[in-house]
Amino acid sequence: MKQDKEIVLTGITTTGTPHLGNYVGAIRPAIEASRDARVQPFYFLADYHALIKCQEPERIKQSTLEIAATWLALGLDTDNAVFYRQSDVPEITELTWIISCVTAKGLMNRAHAYKAAVAENQEKGEKDPDKGITMGLYCYPILMAADILLFKARKIPVGKDQIQHIEMARDIAARFNHIYGEHFVLPEAVVQEEGAVLQGLDGRKMSKSYNNTIPLFLPEKKLRKMIMKIKTNSLPPEAPKDPETCTLFSIFQAFASNEEVEQLRQRYHQGIAWGEMKQYLFEYINEHVKDARARYQELLQHPEEIEHRLKQGAARAREVAAPFMVEIREAVGIAPLTR
Ligand code: TRP
Repeated sequence: MKQDKEIVLTGITTTGTPHLGNYVGAIRPAIEASRDARVQPFYFLADYHALIKCQEPERIKQSTLEIAATWLALGLDTDNAVFYRQSDVPEITELTWIISCVTAKGLMNRAHAYKAAVAENQEKGEKDPDKGITMGLYCYPILMAADILLFKARKIPVGKDQIQHIEMARDIAARFNHIYGEHFVLPEAVVQEEGAVLQGLDGRKMSKSYNNTIPLFLPEKKLRKMIMKIKTNSLPPEAPKDPETCTLFSIFQAFASNEEVEQLRQRYHQGIAWGEMKQYLFEYINEHVKDARARYQELLQHPEEIEHRLKQGAARAREVAAPFMVEIREAVGIAPLTR
């Protein structure tokens, strides 16, 4: 691995099934970036982060399998990108402890996810504002900082909700560097544009928390059925329609070329029946995902192949992580007594 390339790193929490919104907002751009020889991507399955939100072992396992299969089926370039599972790199949790010891508790008190959980308890009138809050949730940003700092990653592509965590990773890195000397690179968030947010079945942002998602690799029949369920207004077939406020149109836009979008916009102005539009959207998306879906189904039949590729990725990640951990341990005074 050449070390002069810019390191871009991002994690995917393994709690769900990839949906069209994940694809458009995160997976597709990350896979495109993996083909750029000027950057060194590190992409990983954040299964330790998943434990914070999910205590169903089967779901975590299944999600890990589905997410890995999705990224591989979509053609992630694993010769360039280092693709691994967080729990296969024990240096991450080791570093988590070391940086925990320079992280101010007050900094964690300010984390959005923790504050939201406290606020919810207060609204419910709970006596204990920390009721039901685990140390995992509380320390979540420290684990995330370790993910990033261990690989000297500079650019972190994330959604808006994660910006604060990247800033915390910077704070933690700067604090460590101040005490022990310059070891860590200060990371920066690269925030995905608004345009990359896809609408879901009900017109709100497509998100697992709204339960309005369309899974990316749904079998053909089910995909059609779901697209038919997308909410539209009740204008009659021949009436002109407004593309800019239409969920169907916005989803189409995330997949089609500018020219195709323009053509469809004209059809809206002329009047297009919702049934026809839904059928068209289904066919378009189906065509777009069909080949990758076949590879995905094939990969799910061969978990050993996925496991093998994740292990290879972890070995590459550890080539970087293990020597760096020796340096970090040394820096804090944890080292052999004799050389
Ligand atoms: N917390 C991130 C999320 O929920 C996932 C994640 C874990 C991550 N570790 C990371 C993202 C490191 C970027 C860098 O989306």
